[in-house]
Amino acid sequence: MGSMKYNSEQQRLIELQQMLRIHNHRYFILNDPVISDYKYDRLYRELLELEEKYPSLKTPDSPTQRAGSPSSDAFVRLEHPGPILSLDNAFSAEELRAWLQRIYKLDQRVDQAEFVVEPKLDGLTVVLHYENGLFTKGATRGNSEIGEDITDNLRTIRSLPLRIPPDPERLAPPQRLVVRGEAFIRISDFENLNRTLEEAGERTYVNPRNTAAGSLRQLDSSLTAKRPLTLLVYQIVDSSDQLPATQNETITYLEQLGFPTPDYDYCSNLESVISLLDKWEHRRQKLDYEIDGVVIKINDLELADNLGIVGKAPRGAIAYKFPAQVVNTTLEEIRVNVGRTGVLTPYAVLEPVEIGGVTVKQATLHNFDFIQEKDIREGDQVMIKRAGEVIPYVMGPVKELRTGKEELYKPPTSCPVCREPVDHHEGEVAWYCVNLSCEAQLIRNIEHFVSRTAMDIVGLGFKLVEQLTNEGLISTVADLYSLNKEELMKLEGFGDKKADNLLEAIKQSKNQPLDRLITALGIRGVGEVVSGTLTNHYQDLHALNQATVEDLENIPGIGPNIAQGIIDWFNRSSNQEVLQKLQERGVWPTLDINETGVTGDQPLADLSFVLTGKLQKHTRQEMKDLIQSAGGRVTGSVSAKTNYVLVGENPGSKRDKAVELNLNLISEDELVELINKTTTRK
Ligand code: IVH
Repeated sequence: MGSMKYNSEQQRLIELQQMLRIHNHRYFILNDPVISDYKYDRLYRELLELEEKYPSLKTPDSPTQRAGSPSSDAFVRLEHPGPILSLDNAFSAEELRAWLQRIYKLDQRVDQAEFVVEPKLDGLTVVLHYENGLFTKGATRGNSEIGEDITDNLRTIRSLPLRIPPDPERLAPPQRLVVRGEAFIRISDFENLNRTLEEAGERTYVNPRNTAAGSLRQLDSSLTAKRPLTLLVYQIVDSSDQLPATQNETITYLEQLGFPTPDYDYCSNLESVISLLDKWEHRRQKLDYEIDGVVIKINDLELADNLGIVGKAPRGAIAYKFPAQVVNTTLEEIRVNVGRTGVLTPYAVLEPVEIGGVTVKQATLHNFDFIQEKDIREGDQVMIKRAGEVIPYVMGPVKELRTGKEELYKPPTSCPVCREPVDHHEGEVAWYCVNLSCEAQLIRNIEHFVSRTAMDIVGLGFKLVEQLTNEGLISTVADLYSLNKEELMKLEGFGDKKADNLLEAIKQSKNQPLDRLITALGIRGVGEVVSGTLTNHYQDLHALNQATVEDLENIPGIGPNIAQGIIDWFNRSSNQEVLQKLQERGVWPTLDINETGVTGDQPLADLSFVLTGKLQKHTRQEMKDLIQSAGGRVTGSVSAKTNYVLVGENPGSKRDKAVELNLNLISEDELVELINKTTTRK
């Protein structure tokens, strides 16, 4: 018999679907988002992962299923108006001269030909259709005749003009126009994206091209919208108007229509093209996007056309490929870096090697899964790629060169900085050091501890946390509560007032309720909702400290993973020390909020609330804050102990359960009214 009870992950999944639905609406329809893109992305990915695990809950109305056609899981085919050709390659000046000789035999006008040299962007071809100046549809290259319709995704590219030209007074748009361009991600945007992901302990991307490819083929275009894709357009595939006669006029025309176009060089003969190649290779290092060569095009489009096609490549243009920025070297050792977020990131220590004029000694290995997937071993000859400013990375081993002395690599079981055991959750890539006192993570833990949804210590920002840690004044969160004015005054930038304010804010935080303290501890899997549940159940930290896995798993809303995370956390002696110090220093709230010295009206004291469905006037966070500031508790799941269930629009199963248990259902307005009653409940 299957149990009807959802486990904590399934509950989280349903909660995520609902949250994301609200955020989609706020973002795309009301244009009034209440969370950052980054936070949205994290929630979205979390939901994707959970739906992968529980496919039966991946309902058609899930925010992950917002494709152009919600019921399909593939793109629609879109036929190109003409073949979308590729290019032949040349790797040397000699090969370029040979190309010229070949085509001269076909049409002697080649002798007089002029050329345009454009960067060969390392992105993805896109084909864009415009009707009467409006962007109507767009496709990937596909098999050169038929691509995939990715219109919704393309629309999210900010640099793609949705209407051309920008000033219709000056230039009339053709009734029909189809252009070709390259979609890609700039190096600086790519690095920012990865930095953000890394700080969140999430999987980083390997290179801009793959990231761009993955983003363009997202079935949910709102996700594409969050990737920093950009575009350059360089060719007209089809037009109802007469086409410009040359490539440089084409670029100028495209530019006038409002398209982003590449920088190009104009050359009156092939030898001057060849003399420019060095310059382009040099320029390549400074560009904010990756190019893998230049494209040399015969400027006269009629002549180029007349030369015809071999295979799928036109004879009138050729790609000159730069020497690859990939080299082989020995991977001497795999080491592990512990990031600010506690994520362990493996990197390769290399036998130093020069790539594009730079000596490379280290390269990233992304994550431990990558090492395993590629079977990278210590001692291997590995291929290293360095493109532009992108941090060099290991592409993979050259297995043919193995001697048998290479050593298999095992991810560390303990943190290389503090030696405490590391933690990994099924289905996640990252391994974490979760030791609260690990030097590498200290700052992050303290930052989390003082943050708004945890102990909310106003004025203690990241910079200050860093300063206090670096000066050796704090090494655990408990040390915050033994800071004194004298030592603070010695710090740079501290005056009388600043020191007093900080100490006062820290003192105030002792009054925070127990659920906030539990959140603040940073136990894996224990956010605000679970903290509320634990608070309800245990009422003080001693009791929670003594809980067994079985006890925890028996609490509705706590699944095996969370239970284990809690047990692991309390099992660490370093964490026990922190707890003890917190208690000694008076940071030890118990459930009864009035006893902890909080004053003021507490109309909801001792009452527990569960929220379900979409709220109209408040965000969930606002509502939680409201309830909590009135002394109430918010928990994640409905039980017989729940006092009220706040029912919003399209409530989930929580409402059904509340009805079943005969609990009080309450609306948003009624709840606000309840809070505003000044009489304290007896
Ligand atoms: S012209 C018939 N120009 O390179 C015209 N292609 O290896 C063929 N590419 O599939 C394309 N930058 O995706 C052209 N400035 C540029 C380009 C470019 C990048 C890509 C394009 C093509 C591939 C050919």
